[in-house]
Amino acid sequence: MEPLLKVNNLKVAFKTDGGLVKAVNDVNFYLNEGETLGIVGESGSGKSVTSMAIMRLLPTPPAVIDSNSQVIFKGQNLLKLKDDQMRKIRGKEIAMIFQDPMTSLNPVLTIGKQITESLKLHMHLDDRAASRRAIELLKLVGIPSADKRLGDYPHQFSGGMRQRVMIAMAISCDPKLLIADEPTTALDVTIQAQILELLKRLRQELGTAIMLITHDLGVVAGMCDRIQVMYAGKIVETASAKPLYANPRMPYTIGLLNSIPRLDSEGQDRLIPIQGLPPDMITLPPGCPFEPRCAYRQPVVCQAKVPELREVEEGHRAACLFDITKETPIPEVPAPEVVATANDVRISPAG
Ligand SMILES: Nc1ncnc2c1ncn2[C@@H]1O[C@H](COP(=O)(O)OP(=O)(O)OP(=O)(O)O)[C@@H](O)[C@H]1O
Ligand SMILES: [Mg+2]
Repeated sequence: MEPLLKVNNLKVAFKTDGGLVKAVNDVNFYLNEGETLGIVGESGSGKSVTSMAIMRLLPTPPAVIDSNSQVIFKGQNLLKLKDDQMRKIRGKEIAMIFQDPMTSLNPVLTIGKQITESLKLHMHLDDRAASRRAIELLKLVGIPSADKRLGDYPHQFSGGMRQRVMIAMAISCDPKLLIADEPTTALDVTIQAQILELLKRLRQELGTAIMLITHDLGVVAGMCDRIQVMYAGKIVETASAKPLYANPRMPYTIGLLNSIPRLDSEGQDRLIPIQGLPPDMITLPPGCPFEPRCAYRQPVVCQAKVPELREVEEGHRAACLFDITKETPIPEVPAPEVVATANDVRISPAG
């Protein structure tokens, strides 16, 4: 079966005064119908730019999308569609929930107006049918006294409620794909949990495929079928949720997991933050972008070339030259002599 969405060789850069910011660097992935894919990574790793490119919401310029990039949705390349063809897909077939609902809700229109507008446009409903459907949607996302709230403005809702309204708007036209970009970051933990529960329920009830973007591996646990880890505009590890948590194979993912509290850990494990900062996206290093921060780095080999994603077990790929696992002891100091296993390069002692 063809996947619902297939992203091939996606490369996005931004022209800035300081130079070309290479935000997304050859990203490839797919999403099946009804599947939930988690995309995690630190701030600046290219998660939002990837989703905005899929939605064709990046202004070009300053954004430059490589001409070989493809976003195949239901068999057609969205990057090649005319603007009016894309408008029929955006909001209807593919909907998006943003981190801050206030940026996507119009403050001067009632939420009833905002929900019914797209129902009339995409679903060709008349006023009465659209209002009825809007109330149903608000009920579905858990807004109390939904019928009385259609005339309210966004500021009359709390942050969590606004996020629910956004979700109601996003699912109003039965999208095949819902892109949720950090939908809970601005909310407190209780509300965060409720919103995630809501997304889970909608997925079960409506069968919508979800691309859930977050910088928090804890959030995607238990929610996603597959997880993709991004670093410096690349996918550096991808696997089903279970193996990714149980057996992470890219040092960056291992670092991410060590830096979040885990309910399943028995002892009082110390949380270990990842040292250092992501690379400058204008002058990316020639080698592994994580190398300067990697506890397992081997000088020279890791700086020589960017490691490709390679299969480490079935359905599990990681971008590291070495077979690192959670159990691999962290070297005290980088070894003076290393033998690379992956490409069989022998390196002489440094200095
Ligand atoms: N309009 C723009 N002009 C220049 N650079 C940009 C622009 N938009 C994004 N970038 C750069 O692209 C890179 C990826 O940004 P992106 O917003 O995708 O990160 P992210 O993974 O979503 O981070 P966060 O978790 O903070 O939302 C960053 O280095 C960012 O500075
Ligand atoms: Mg973002």
